[in-house]
Amino acid sequence: MPVIMPIYGTRPEAIKMAPIIAALQAAPEFECVVTVTGQHREMLDQVNELFGIFPDHDLDILEPGQTLAGIMTRTINGLDALFAESAPDAVVVQGDTTTSTAAAIAAFYRGIPVVHAEAGLRSGDLFSPFPEEANRKITSQIASLHLAPTSTSKANLIAEGVAEEDIVVTGNTVIDALLTTVGKRIPFTDPQLEELAASGRRVLLVTTHRRENQGEAMRGVGRALARIAAAEPDLVIVLPAHKNPVVREAVLPALEGLPNVVVTEPMAYGEFTRLLSLAHVVLTDSGGVQEEAPSLGKPVLVMRENTERPEAVVAGTVALIGTDEERIVTEVERLLHDAARFEAMANAVNPYGDGRAAARTAAAIAELLGLGERLSDFDPS
Ligand code: UD1
Ligand code: UDP
Repeated sequence: MPVIMPIYGTRPEAIKMAPIIAALQAAPEFECVVTVTGQHREMLDQVNELFGIFPDHDLDILEPGQTLAGIMTRTINGLDALFAESAPDAVVVQGDTTTSTAAAIAAFYRGIPVVHAEAGLRSGDLFSPFPEEANRKITSQIASLHLAPTSTSKANLIAEGVAEEDIVVTGNTVIDALLTTVGKRIPFTDPQLEELAASGRRVLLVTTHRRENQGEAMRGVGRALARIAAAEPDLVIVLPAHKNPVVREAVLPALEGLPNVVVTEPMAYGEFTRLLSLAHVVLTDSGGVQEEAPSLGKPVLVMRENTERPEAVVAGTVALIGTDEERIVTEVERLLHDAARFEAMANAVNPYGDGRAAARTAAAIAELLGLGERLSDFDPS
């Protein structure tokens, strides 16, 4: 029986890989062997625990203050040793982290076909997001099967010379994960959030972590949040802080002691999706949150200059606002007080998936290995 090996290392990859693992485990034609690099630790384990995934192999590569080259080399060396012992028939990598590109390179060097989930996203700027735009372009060069979440990402791949027959439009598996999780009303670990949910107060949900925003831009985000908190005493700002100490040192000092700011540890996915569904406005630089919030009808202000996820911008639910402190304050205030602006953005749209992306992924892998046929492409219309 062909062995398919999903390989991943960070929180967003784990969330988006979980539905794929479930579909592969359910498919009688494959054996699914799960490998994690451990690029993230607590944030990765949190997701695996929620979805009941017990990795078969764990490279455990995380080092505090890890460099991109360190993640790349430890992943390639670890996987190469694993492949030398027993090579899978195909690997599945997800997105654009350094784990995903390193895994694709390690497999390619051993002649193992690479299946790339969430293929074809492009911001058009090699340095934003950094290093993710480069990572995903490199993976596109060496993948055998490209699973594009949308027709826009398929068009990006075709424009770069990828053969159309090697692309399947699946939708994004993050919507599969969201739809199986969001309705569950999972209790909040932090009692402040349970009180908040009962209070009906308006919530501004904030996440930030992007490397290119670290430093002064992120300190500006902290200052902007402090100003919003002071100007809006009825609003509650909730910020589940990323584990990265560089992020915490930049954003959190400005928020210390503010009565209407709640800073939490990274939240388990079930709790986070519940919070997302309670939020009034979302302020983020996250890729996954940009995909999830529109399907819940939440206006999203994205703290970036560009995005590889233009579909929800076109639909009007996401606005790019950059990281300038003044602009963040102005745009949040506008959404809080301008009802027409809020109504225009608070539309539930689903450009990123219909919850069947993992089923399309498993079928496309079966086709790659000559064991079945692909399903029809995802079409949001
Ligand atoms: C990584 C990905 C990014 C993705 C993000 C999701 C790369 C280059 N970056 O960025 O594409 O959007 O994950 O969150 O692949 N840390 C812990 N425990 C954890 C996780 C992180 O302690 O569970 C700390 C470590 O000190 C680590 C630092 O955070 O050195 C940064 O982690 P890293 O994976 O290098 O970068 P991220 O910014 O998380
Ligand atoms: N998320 C989570 N807990 C949190 C914050 C985010 O489970 O405290 C989820 C979120 O729903 C999304 C994913 O993590 O699916 C996004 O991860 P992140 O922002 O770290 O990475 P990115 O998507 O930017 O690569």
